[in-house]
Amino acid sequence: MNRLTTSLLNWYDQQKRTLPWRDHPDPYAVWVSEIMLQQTRVDTVIPYFEKWMKLFPSVKELAAASEQSVLNAWEGLGYYSRARNLHKAARAIVEKYGGELPRDLEELRSLPGIGRYTVGAIASMAFGMDVPTLDGNLRRVFSRLFDVTEFADSPSGEEKLWELAAQNLPKGKAGDYNQALMDLGATICLPKNPRCLLCPLMKYCKARENGTQEQRPVLKPKKAIPSYVHAAAVIVERGRVLLSQRPADGLLGGMWEFPNARIDGDPAKVLVKSLRAATQIQVRKKEALQVVEHAYSHFRVTVYPFLCAKISIPKNKNLKWVKLDELEDFPMGKVDRQIARQIK
Ligand code: ADE
Repeated sequence: MNRLTTSLLNWYDQQKRTLPWRDHPDPYAVWVSEIMLQQTRVDTVIPYFEKWMKLFPSVKELAAASEQSVLNAWEGLGYYSRARNLHKAARAIVEKYGGELPRDLEELRSLPGIGRYTVGAIASMAFGMDVPTLDGNLRRVFSRLFDVTEFADSPSGEEKLWELAAQNLPKGKAGDYNQALMDLGATICLPKNPRCLLCPLMKYCKARENGTQEQRPVLKPKKAIPSYVHAAAVIVERGRVLLSQRPADGLLGGMWEFPNARIDGDPAKVLVKSLRAATQIQVRKKEALQVVEHAYSHFRVTVYPFLCAKISIPKNKNLKWVKLDELEDFPMGKVDRQIARQIK
């Protein structure tokens, strides 16, 4: 083991965060936590993880659950394809591997939602295998340690970072090594104002030596993200409200929403016509509810909801009249949940 690795592991032994999935004997728990932690902060994940493990304590129980209950448990974490893929993968693991996560890296990688990062995390942390991994934190740490000047989000830059991740991997301790780097990235090697004076790797850090730590990782310039405006109809009749289920794949796949349409112009003026054109739902507009805004990863949306009365509703299996006091049972994204809370 080289000195860099020794310093890192000693630091981890003393400073590691206590997290509910850490040193968990169950590969399933490691897998669930790693999927939740993609794009989501540790503090946000902890309560979701604990609730999830009570609802679905094993691969078999997850596989047997309904998609609705799985999406419900995920509601608020965002990037819902992660939940759908966990569910699909659990079913495949029961079918092909008797309910145990496979230890073969190719087999792991073939499961829905499990890419190179997750394979590395599960293999090293749950199975003790000598496998590297690379997430956003590790990408930043390695970019700084080795003062990498290539775009870290380009294919060649990524390849270089994967090589660096493999280079110092200590035999038999890859799980600790990978998690030490995650903790270092989350607590010391911060994106802005890194706390170099507290860093156990300060004397090995090339970016620190060159004074470039604030400029690493080098990332491609970001494209401006578009903004959309939608109008939504909250159609209430005899204690029930009309919900529409989104297609199974894509953004918020399988989740429920108030019928809506992208609009151009004054929402109060174009709602009825735009909704009819997009959904064949015909309504009479009553009053405006509170406007809701949300930023997704690739666009922003502003939604103007209106209470409406039904005129005519097409026969469509994606539409469902739902009792107002059962709205919580229907998984929704943040925008629609905020609208739903206005009518309870
Ligand atoms: N982020 C992703 N996986 C993690 C883990 N196992 N520990 C801490 N932070 C993480």
